[in-house]
Amino acid sequence: MLDIRDLTAAYGPVTALDGVSFTAPEGKITAVLGANGAGKTSLLRTISGLLRPTKGTAYLADQDLSRVPVERMSRLGLAHVPEGRGVITELTVEENLRLGRLGRADRAKPTDLERIYTLFPKLADRRHKTAHVLSGGERQMLVIGRALLATPKVLLLDEPSLGLAPRIVAQIFDLLKSLVESDGLTIVLVEQNARSALSIADYGAVLNLGKLVVHDDAAVLAADDTLRHAYLGF
Ligand SMILES: Nc1ncnc2c1ncn2[C@@H]1O[C@H](COP(=O)(O)OP(=O)(O)OP(=O)(O)O)[C@@H](O)[C@H]1O
Ligand SMILES: [Mg+2]
Repeated sequence: MLDIRDLTAAYGPVTALDGVSFTAPEGKITAVLGANGAGKTSLLRTISGLLRPTKGTAYLADQDLSRVPVERMSRLGLAHVPEGRGVITELTVEENLRLGRLGRADRAKPTDLERIYTLFPKLADRRHKTAHVLSGGERQMLVIGRALLATPKVLLLDEPSLGLAPRIVAQIFDLLKSLVESDGLTIVLVEQNARSALSIADYGAVLNLGKLVVHDDAAVLAADDTLRHAYLGF
């Protein structure tokens, strides 16, 4: 589904991503792991067109994403939930959700919104409240819900667990797993919380200093003591 080939990107003289290749198969979760500065965020930004590759590309189905303007990514079925939960706190929960369809000719239907509220009942309770009342976990649910409203085929998630209590992380990860099973969604999950990510992922890719160290079944990575100690911090 998402085929990453020799992807290379830089910020001026700083190489952030250096010849990374792997495939994130359809209907599966691929965890992207690695320490601070490994290049995880840069990988997602390069896939979604926020950062242009200096070499290599990513294909979504057969579409070369390096040639697609960033504002067209959503229509191709790519959704990117960046680091940091960018909710607009002055808008209501529902207004924030509707932003997920911005720029699309077909606006969100009531049934689309109801589906998000079924997935995240806490958002339903607060739909007409401004988003500043939401907790960190609820904000994460809101940005995931907003991305889902665009009905993506591939969902890129950057550190959704950051700063959340383990119980909330487990809730969010369970939901991601169920979306993959029910909708055939393809997920690329960037995480520093490698242990939790590998517990729901099918595959894992480990980055270090912009390079791919290994790509394998999640269970194989989780069982590799040397790799865990060297790169995954558990
Ligand atoms: N805007 C920027 N300008 C210059 N260098 C940057 C910028 N953003 C990231 N870098 C550098 O690119 C490299 C990869 O950073 P990146 O943010 O992709 O790593 P990461 O794996 O997401 O790290 P973290 O776990 O801290 O989020 C690092 O060396 C970083 O310092
Ligand atoms: Mg990052």
